[in-house]
Amino acid sequence: MPTPSPIHTELEQRLIDHIAQYGPITFEAFMEAALYDEQHGYYPSRRRLSRSTPVGTDGDYFTSPASHPAFGALVALQLDEMWRNMGSPGEFAVVEMGAGGGTLGSDISEYVQQELPQFAPAISYISTDLVPPAGSDRVGDGSKLPIGVTGCVISNELLDALPVNRFIVQGGELKEIFVDFKNEKFIESVGDVSEGEIAGRVDPFLDSLPESYRGEVNLKLGYWADSVAATLERGYVMTIDYGFDRPELYKPVRIDGSLRCYYQHTLGQNPLSRIGKQDITAHVDFTAVDHTLMVMGFSRIGKPSQQEFLSNIGIDGFLRDISDRVAAGEMRRSESEEDLAGIGSLINPEGLGRFRVAVHSKGVEVDGEGGRQLTGISGGALLSEGHSAPTLNASTVDHARLLRSSNPFSQSRPHPGEIPTWEELFSDEP
Ligand SMILES: C[S@@+](CC[C@H](N)C(=O)[O-])C[C@H]1O[C@@H](n2cnc3c(N)ncnc32)[C@H](O)[C@@H]1O
Repeated sequence: MPTPSPIHTELEQRLIDHIAQYGPITFEAFMEAALYDEQHGYYPSRRRLSRSTPVGTDGDYFTSPASHPAFGALVALQLDEMWRNMGSPGEFAVVEMGAGGGTLGSDISEYVQQELPQFAPAISYISTDLVPPAGSDRVGDGSKLPIGVTGCVISNELLDALPVNRFIVQGGELKEIFVDFKNEKFIESVGDVSEGEIAGRVDPFLDSLPESYRGEVNLKLGYWADSVAATLERGYVMTIDYGFDRPELYKPVRIDGSLRCYYQHTLGQNPLSRIGKQDITAHVDFTAVDHTLMVMGFSRIGKPSQQEFLSNIGIDGFLRDISDRVAAGEMRRSESEEDLAGIGSLINPEGLGRFRVAVHSKGVEVDGEGGRQLTGISGGALLSEGHSAPTLNASTVDHARLLRSSNPFSQSRPHPGEIPTWEELFSDEP
């Protein structure tokens, strides 16, 4: 085994050795190593640190489940309706892929037990992740994925964490951005595209893209769709993530692409620094999500924003429920403020509310063809009617407190002027 150089981490040294032997690597291979290398990748090393998680106040970014348990409760109400639409089968498996610490699964399961007694005996919840938390008994690895279930496959912010290839337009031609190592630094190098599929996705837009335009292509979606199809025999796929349909994703105005790095709640620009120590994400190509699932026999049901989806289910009813409890003296106003802020953040049009909730189905009669609609997609009588809102507990209240300061990314920003807004984070402008 080569002795690691003192100025490079073991992971960096391995990448350097590989590049020296075989030449520049694709960005996808680089991102795979930076995020998922078993020893030094971002997710495995964060998950091994006790009391440390990539998500939430101690981590590098927030997600909806970390913001408020109302997210899991509203998703639970949608799952209950899916189950009823399918004729209330005796077994309904919810399989979550990329479950992280498993918060969404526990929030859904808890809410179903408390509020949905008819659904409760039918539902089983299976959480899996490529990198399950160390010693977790609630999140299993990919080998725990079942095959051929009736139910729903769900993911939240899984697809934006899959490694992507990067491209650049040079001299009007489509080129790929690789990762090289020169003069003691990881640098970008440009060459011919490594996979025909990259050109297949970008070529239709090439004429409209300006010189030096950069973007990403997620070739891993096909593998994800394969495993969704193997897992789900009949039911729904609910895919929650940030992204666009392809014509919007590859708009000329997005000249720098959508790659983002997160380190301790700050937004970084350089994926080639802090290798294995920062998160890297790219916006999801929802056209590719549709195509890869439709090839596997799924039908597209809809793709509302998270704000529309949660509003259709009845998030306002939860907000009213909390206010009513304050008015009735069942809850202190100061406690309620944390809950109202946490719930509100889920539909913030400048933040989590801009995520998409893509729903697909297989073997289920869909709306307009004798099947029943899904309220989260099409609206209708609120599913939250008659159900109470979950509230934060001592361990989750800190998250809402940070959100209430209106900026979850304020922690490591010493100067107020440097705090990035949600708008900056998710900005669609250059
Ligand atoms: C951004 S985190 C989201 C975690 C969680 N869903 C949440 O909302 O907090 C992405 C997760 O996807 C997992 N992941 C990445 N690739 C995966 C794959 N191929 N199969 C399963 N999980 C994967 C990562 O380990 C990570 O836990």
